[in-house]
Amino acid sequence: MSTLANYLDAHAKDPALSNVITTVTEVGKTISGLLKKGALADILGEAGNQNVQGEEQKKLDVLANDLLLDALAKNTHCAGVASEELDDATPANADGSLLVLFDPLDGSSNIDINMAVGTIFSILPYERQGQNSENSDFLQAGNQQLAAGYLLYGTSTVLALTIDDNVVMFSLDPDSGDYILINDHVQIAADTSEYAINASNYRYWLAPMQQYIDELIAGKTGVRGRDFNTRWVAAMVGDVHRILCRGGLFTYPFDTKYPNKAGKLRLMYEANPMSLLIERAGGAATDAINRILDIEPTDIHQRVPVVLGSKNEVNYVKDLHVQHAHS
Ligand code: AHG
Ligand code: MN
Ligand code: MN
Repeated sequence: MSTLANYLDAHAKDPALSNVITTVTEVGKTISGLLKKGALADILGEAGNQNVQGEEQKKLDVLANDLLLDALAKNTHCAGVASEELDDATPANADGSLLVLFDPLDGSSNIDINMAVGTIFSILPYERQGQNSENSDFLQAGNQQLAAGYLLYGTSTVLALTIDDNVVMFSLDPDSGDYILINDHVQIAADTSEYAINASNYRYWLAPMQQYIDELIAGKTGVRGRDFNTRWVAAMVGDVHRILCRGGLFTYPFDTKYPNKAGKLRLMYEANPMSLLIERAGGAATDAINRILDIEPTDIHQRVPVVLGSKNEVNYVKDLHVQHAHS
């Protein structure tokens, strides 16, 4: 039985990286414990304020953010953190070699109803050791990530992680408190019949996305010639986990619902880490046309349309968008 500690000892080339991943995953145990207590830990409900993106913060958004921030600030290898819940990046230890970005609690609308939520993280190199990190230090393309992963707090707590060209999964053993390796080589099939989208936004989508979903709904009776099935967790972390387990397509596409915003999901601490996991498991991740990991960020909170999962399906969506652009 291999633990996360064994795995990191054997596979992480940089001890600093192991150390920072250990800090994040230890906080994950605390968050997991709080979620298990639920209402009994007084973690449910609104915090009563908004984050920089104008979204209402839940108590657990704030708590999870503070737990990660406090733990990483004490880690000598962490030069700074950026979070969905912090307006600006926070410098940590100037001599650190790593920057950590996170969505402390993904799927906030699921907290109060006892459904799956998660923590998403991305680790980037820090190039200006000795000086305090700033927002601009975090503006690196996703292809620069040294590691990425998520913790899914579902019926069990699962960690998905990539620190090399492989994706692995661990399950948190509630008895020993250790993360135990459950899959040492996660792979996504190229074809799928399962897709995830919030279809209530249909009228805000671009024409090629409307056409794509029309084709899936037509199933056997349409051009695809076979039936498709919808699955939607309402937390990206849950939908991505399903895709890593059994394939599928997840999209939060470009829409016109929020003017001046390219989509709902955030590039740096949602789309990039998930895209790295998906690509390394053999899938694909685009903004409908372009590879997400190659986008040069201009803002730590920028949004991006996301289409990810089984490769052939992601490419099919891309072809529809390219055809529409040329018609
Ligand atoms: P967050 O809770 O961090 O704000 O992210 C929620 C995101 C994502 O996890 C999910 O796919 C999407 O929002 C669901 O949004 P809607 O239900 O509003 O469409
Ligand atoms: Mn999120
Ligand atoms: Mn969040």
